[in-house]
Amino acid sequence: MKGKILVTGAAGYIGAIATELLISKGFEAVALDDLSTGHKESLFENIPFYEGKVGDKSILEKIFSEHKIDCVLHIAAAALVEESTKNPSKYFDINFSQPNIMLETMMSFGVNKIVFSSTCAVYGIPNDDQIPIKESNPKKPINPYGESKLVFEELLNWYKTNKGLDFIALRFFNVAGASMNRGEKHNPETHLIPLVLKSIKNKDYNFKIYGNDYPTKDGTTIRDYIHVLDLNHALINAIEALLDQKKHVNFYNLGYGQGYSVLEIVNAVKKVLGVEIPYTVTNRRPGDPAVLIADCRKVKEDLGWTPQYNNIEEIILSANRFAN
Ligand SMILES: NC(=O)c1ccc[n+]([C@@H]2O[C@H](COP(=O)([O-])OP(=O)(O)OC[C@H]3O[C@@H](n4cnc5c(N)ncnc54)[C@H](O)[C@@H]3O)[C@@H](O)[C@H]2O)c1
Repeated sequence: MKGKILVTGAAGYIGAIATELLISKGFEAVALDDLSTGHKESLFENIPFYEGKVGDKSILEKIFSEHKIDCVLHIAAAALVEESTKNPSKYFDINFSQPNIMLETMMSFGVNKIVFSSTCAVYGIPNDDQIPIKESNPKKPINPYGESKLVFEELLNWYKTNKGLDFIALRFFNVAGASMNRGEKHNPETHLIPLVLKSIKNKDYNFKIYGNDYPTKDGTTIRDYIHVLDLNHALINAIEALLDQKKHVNFYNLGYGQGYSVLEIVNAVKKVLGVEIPYTVTNRRPGDPAVLIADCRKVKEDLGWTPQYNNIEEIILSANRFAN
């Protein structure tokens, strides 16, 4: 056994696949999820599952007394940008206040290692000359979702300075694709690839492109899509760096360092699946940056991360197995 990991958000898209990979690599996993957006059937079979909130001190005390946890993999969050603008308080509760309770509790049980799922939303809208985005770029979130993740990053830093916490926060860019057994099942779905695939399966669904007048090669927004398996391999490398006390810093971008426009994704889906994708172009969404691409050299250099699925057609094919 390489270590026992508490996975929060283990019934969600990324958390369920993270658990699969942890087990396949010889770790033990304990799952915590309140099933608010996750699915019970996505949980990895035969591991201890605690249904409850990341901020529920009594459940946390039960978990940390029943299991000798070596590291927490904190993936649970509320992660809908638009909802966060309508209900900021929910986002600061779930993404900051509740994990703060978890930090206090884990430290009180002597667990001082955590890998945190952060987001490129902490950067806000980068200037043209700040792309690809480095970890040192200015952090100027433009919505409560990004801000709630950024303040939790800062809290982790204070726990490190004052209380002996060791942590790695990975700032995910656009996660996509699936493992053989588990895929993306958000409700509502807001991510591009599942939405394009949905428009094929569901003829009543009208796929929309939000703006084709951006200063990009074809006018549509560009994002850095990373396969969920590569992403989760990086999370495991981060856990290993903490457990084995290997050299690391605290913040890493996680993407491939290359971007695809919305139209390029539509055309890639057309090519791979051999179908037409009808769409309508509508107004830009407020606060949608033109281009978000990661500078991901640091995670490769420090954590020895080597992506294996950097192929947009493979990402689309794997996602298509779970399209609905
Ligand atoms: N999917 C992406 O493209 C993407 C991009 C950037 C960052 N992220 C980050 O990755 C993480 C996972 O995203 P996802 O796409 O798997 O989302 P998801 O909604 O599928 O998973 C989140 C899981 O957390 C659980 N959860 C939510 N609040 C909880 C709480 N208070 N207590 C316990 N469990 C709770 C949900 O039930 C769900 O199972 C999030 O932290 C998100 O911010 C995702």
